[in-house]
Amino acid sequence: MTVDIRGRDFLGLKDFQADELVGLLQLAADMKAGRNGRRCLEGKLIGMLFEKASTRTRISFQAAARQLGGLTETYTPQELQLSNAETLIDTAEVMSRFLDAIVVRSYDLDAYGKAHRDLQVIAEHSAVPVINALDDKEHPCQVLADLLTIQERFGASYQRRKVVFTWAYAKRQKSPGVTHSLLTAAALLGMTLTLAYPPGFEPDDEYLDFARAAARRSGARIEHCHDLDEACVGADVIYAKSWKSLTSTSAGDRELRERARARWCVSRRHFERANPGAVFMDCMPLIRGDEATAEVVDGPQSIRYAEAENRMHAQKALLAALLTG
Ligand code: CP
Repeated sequence: MTVDIRGRDFLGLKDFQADELVGLLQLAADMKAGRNGRRCLEGKLIGMLFEKASTRTRISFQAAARQLGGLTETYTPQELQLSNAETLIDTAEVMSRFLDAIVVRSYDLDAYGKAHRDLQVIAEHSAVPVINALDDKEHPCQVLADLLTIQERFGASYQRRKVVFTWAYAKRQKSPGVTHSLLTAAALLGMTLTLAYPPGFEPDDEYLDFARAAARRSGARIEHCHDLDEACVGADVIYAKSWKSLTSTSAGDRELRERARARWCVSRRHFERANPGAVFMDCMPLIRGDEATAEVVDGPQSIRYAEAENRMHAQKALLAALLTG
């Protein structure tokens, strides 16, 4: 399986075909096994604009690029003339004349959709690939790593395994990016996904509509559930993630999440309902006792460090495919 996405942007998974995602995952697995990609980014410079904090995304991009012979440079908007009102258009046009790819993390959950539109503007005015490192709508890089992790764990028939992706309590308001990207990927790849969340935390209709149409083509089974205990029956993966309500104000969201808190923390009880060998996933960062109990987070079923490591392997494949074919 080859993947031909050279020169494209990676803003969201809706822009990709199932076979392109399958090809990226195969390339990531090959690169992880040391079979492909040595020094393929020699001479390439990747600029990374991070408006928000990041541990995994930022460092895994740096490590991926370096290991393949490339270089990265990280900037904050405050360090660039964006802080003096230079436009995104001028910034993108100029950056893309120096760089071989631009990685961007930016979101403001009080202005839902703006960050994704801004990213599209950057991509339209960039002559080099632009990669979404988390905005207010998608986190496609995280989900590439998640798919690699699930595929490694369950093998070629991973689509038949039941993945429960559940809203979980967190004090901090977080982007629904992973939710939308995983929903999209599951629909494209024919996966068995149960989305569990309290009423009020529904995903964006744009992603629900896409997923319904894609699932009809792929045979994906996507269910929605408002009860975490019920959702976890027969699960092979329980993946916890918090996100802000898209239909509430900030204050309304805080009230909703505090009310849901007690019933939406993944615990041993949920694994007792799951299949033997079920695993716990979380893209991190997390707070023990919020998204999941410490017993689950640090227990033998937790594969979240392998999931984090796969950020680097998945992004090696992505950079190689976008920049070198
Ligand atoms: N999962 C993830 O994106 O982690 P960081 O915020 O640390 O990059």
